[in-house]
Amino acid sequence: MPKLNTVLITGSSEGIGRSFAEIYAKNGHDLVLVARNKAKLEEFAQELKAKYGVNVEVFAADLIPVDAAQKLFTAIALKEIQIDILVNNAGMMQVEKLSLSDPQQLNNLLQLNIQSLVNMTQQFVKPMLARGQGKIVNVGSIASFMPTPNFAAYGASKAFVLSFSEGIAEEFRGTGVTVTCVCPGMTETKMLSHADGFEKFIPKFLKADPMELAAQAYKASMKGDVVFLDKIANKLLVQWATHYPRWMVRGVNGLFARFK
Ligand SMILES: NC(=O)c1ccc[n+]([C@@H]2O[C@H](COP(=O)([O-])OP(=O)(O)OC[C@H]3O[C@@H](n4cnc5c(N)ncnc54)[C@H](OP(=O)(O)O)[C@@H]3O)[C@@H](O)[C@H]2O)c1
Repeated sequence: MPKLNTVLITGSSEGIGRSFAEIYAKNGHDLVLVARNKAKLEEFAQELKAKYGVNVEVFAADLIPVDAAQKLFTAIALKEIQIDILVNNAGMMQVEKLSLSDPQQLNNLLQLNIQSLVNMTQQFVKPMLARGQGKIVNVGSIASFMPTPNFAAYGASKAFVLSFSEGIAEEFRGTGVTVTCVCPGMTETKMLSHADGFEKFIPKFLKADPMELAAQAYKASMKGDVVFLDKIANKLLVQWATHYPRWMVRGVNGLFARFK
């Protein structure tokens, strides 16, 4: 049994979260799976139990309401499950000009990508700090490093995730709790295929396989890396975005957005 045994993964019915669940299970961790679709989670839990012989609990929850993290924490505590690793993966993207965006959807995005991630971290890190061990894994994006016209709120939410993760990584230094911000580039999931035709402009070599991403991110978090980027192309893009003047990065991204 791994020292940090039980992992809670949000958004684990699909995509990157589902791949994270598979990788943690493969490494012998017990799991707590969270997403809205209970039937899908239960079916996946059975599959993981049979394949890897680990314990898997399922909590169906919408993480958008402001009290969602608190309710989930209470429900898990009632079952006397100790969470050793928290993977804040659930997120949503809306590719749409700001003026045309549905305000409710925009609110949901900010609630899920920002507020819920902060609330989940605050709830679950307290017992980890008290025990002197634990891990937080937050899923950001390469968009964390640059503005993203046509989906500006999404990019800004991911910039928040990176800044927040780096901030708390330093805050928790020396406590036994580490924080890793996983910043994927384009990854082949439902989110990308639903992104308003965005996917067809991305060459195949730039798209990551979610299982490969999750396997590498797992190792990075186990080592205690604070920021993790997969793929050379993503690392180069982030080098460019962080070392060139902001007007240039902004302008080039704006040009791509207008071209699309
Ligand atoms: N795919 C990419 O190219 C890419 C790139 C960079 C970063 N990311 C980030 O990676 C993370 C995962 O993305 P993905 O591509 O795997 O997305 P995805 O395929 O759309 O999966 C999203 C997961 O989150 C769950 N979810 C969505 N809304 C929820 C809510 N309100 N409450 C609870 N769970 C919810 C979904 O399950 P239910 O519908 O059952 O709730 C699903 O399990 C996100 O934070 C995303 O921003 C993705």
